[in-house]
Amino acid sequence: MLLIIAGIILLLFLIKPKSTKSVPSYTPELRWNSTGMTVAGTSSMPGNASHQLNDPADIILDYENNLYIADRKNNRIQKYLFGILNGTTVTGSGIYNYSQYQLSNPARMIMDSNRNLYISDTSYHRIQFWPNNANYTMTVAGITNIYGNSSNQLYYPIGIALHPTSGELYISDQFNHRIMSHTSGTNFSTLLFGGNGAGINNTKLYYPYGLHLDLFSNSLIIANTFVNNIVRYVFGTNTWTLVAGNISGFAGNTSTHLNSPYEAILDPMGNLYVADRNNHRIQFFKAGQSNGITIAGTGANSSSATTLLLPRSLRLDSQLNLYVADTGNHRILKFLRY
Ligand SMILES: *[C@@H]1O[C@H](CO)[C@@H](O)[C@H](O)[C@H]1NC(C)=O
Ligand SMILES: *[C@@H]1O[C@H](CO)[C@@H](O)[C@H](O)[C@H]1NC(C)=O
Ligand SMILES: *[C@@H]1O[C@H](CO)[C@@H](O)[C@H](O)[C@H]1NC(C)=O
Ligand SMILES: *[C@@H]1O[C@H](CO)[C@@H](O)[C@H](O)[C@H]1NC(C)=O
Ligand SMILES: *[C@@H]1O[C@H](CO)[C@@H](O)[C@H](O)[C@H]1NC(C)=O
Ligand SMILES: *[C@@H]1O[C@H](CO)[C@@H](O)[C@H](O)[C@H]1NC(C)=O
Ligand SMILES: *[C@@H]1O[C@H](CO)[C@@H](O)[C@H](O)[C@H]1NC(C)=O
Ligand SMILES: *[C@@H]1O[C@H](CO)[C@@H](O)[C@H](O)[C@H]1NC(C)=O
Ligand SMILES: *[C@@H]1O[C@H](CO)[C@@H](O)[C@H](O)[C@H]1NC(C)=O
Ligand SMILES: *[C@@H]1O[C@H](CO)[C@@H](O)[C@H](O)[C@H]1NC(C)=O
Ligand SMILES: *[C@@H]1O[C@H](CO)[C@@H](O)[C@H](O)[C@H]1NC(C)=O
Repeated sequence: MLLIIAGIILLLFLIKPKSTKSVPSYTPELRWNSTGMTVAGTSSMPGNASHQLNDPADIILDYENNLYIADRKNNRIQKYLFGILNGTTVTGSGIYNYSQYQLSNPARMIMDSNRNLYISDTSYHRIQFWPNNANYTMTVAGITNIYGNSSNQLYYPIGIALHPTSGELYISDQFNHRIMSHTSGTNFSTLLFGGNGAGINNTKLYYPYGLHLDLFSNSLIIANTFVNNIVRYVFGTNTWTLVAGNISGFAGNTSTHLNSPYEAILDPMGNLYVADRNNHRIQFFKAGQSNGITIAGTGANSSSATTLLLPRSLRLDSQLNLYVADTGNHRILKFLRY
């Protein structure tokens, strides 16, 4: 065993290019092939067959790059093994009926280290926990079954983020314009930020969607969708700072504008990727920069291999290949980094 490991280390050392030897830190150039590959949803038509999706809203990749897809209008979560173009349903019967076997408009997911999923079951105004391999889900937040703004209620919750060590769950409670913090094992959440009415002021949110936890800066990156910007909320403060988009809330398709951004994520270097939904494109912002470049989609709202239609979410694998929920085209596209 030790010999094998030593052999691998030696091999890695030998194949390491000479030119990088004297360079202490090498920043790889980030670029993606602008032609996407369809990895799920191959029929081009919405539907509920095993190779079809209907308005897929989010994607999660596990350690083996198997895909979990929030198949929103089919009210189910589909799993696609890596490289396989037929999916299986892991939870959600597709029938609209409030129970632990059903979901309504599932919009976002997050996976914990044991491969369990948290699912924002948006139109049931609750967050569900799916134990790995179960055929049911359990309610962890929004237990009342009725939308509202009290501490055990949610109102069309969307984005969710999970603290990897504390297990604290953060929820973007869209129609309450607030971010809630939920401790596992309790039936109540606490207000973290917002909840003071919709607005563009830096103490308010306006229909927040995607949520991304940035441990490095102890903050949440929030897609402040209705006012077309991405903001950062640092824990312990009561204001946000602008990360991308227009501070006054204007929509646009320039390099400094966004139009109804639904999700924003960071890579390990702090670069920002935005599902710029109504511009039918994915924008990339180098860490600290407010000028974005388009890395997927052309702005045209069609269904070719280089265009997107109303993309709602995006994820990166460990190689920084980009996966896009090309929602309006009922497919998941993968854009290879090269
Ligand atoms: C991009 O992908 C297309 C289609 O798979 C392929 O033909 C092309 O060579 C790729 N380009 C690069 C730069 O990898
Ligand atoms: C897989 O999808 C194809 C269509 O792409 C379909 O013809 C086939 O029946 C599906 N296989 C299974 C096992 O569902
Ligand atoms: C799947 O789609 C078919 C054809 O549209 C429909 O008849 C059926 O009810 C759907 N099944 C579910 C579970 O939604
Ligand atoms: C859900 O379905 C079950 C059995 O199919 C039925 O008895 C029940 O009334 C339904 N509930 C709702 C809320 O529609
Ligand atoms: C869920 O799984 C259990 C145990 O395997 C089974 O008895 C039950 O019928 C399943 N329920 C549904 C709704 O699939
Ligand atoms: C909470 O809901 C109640 C009842 O609908 C409403 O009167 C109140 O203004 C809401 N509070 C906030 C902060 O939105
Ligand atoms: C949470 O609510 C459920 C359903 O009402 C109840 O069964 C459970 O005991 C409650 N848990 C706590 C910690 O209060
Ligand atoms: C935001 O609103 C609060 C309360 O209305 C106000 O005190 C504060 O000055 C406003 N901040 C900005 C930047 O406009
Ligand atoms: C916000 O957008 C508006 C309309 O496009 C523009 O006039 C304004 O300069 C922008 N603000 C900033 C700070 O770029
Ligand atoms: C950007 O918006 C302008 C004006 O609204 C429009 O003329 C142009 O076609 C748009 N560009 C793209 C790539 O969609
Ligand atoms: C798609 O683009 C066409 C032509 O620019 C426009 O008329 C249509 O409203 C667009 N549809 C969506 C969903 O953006």
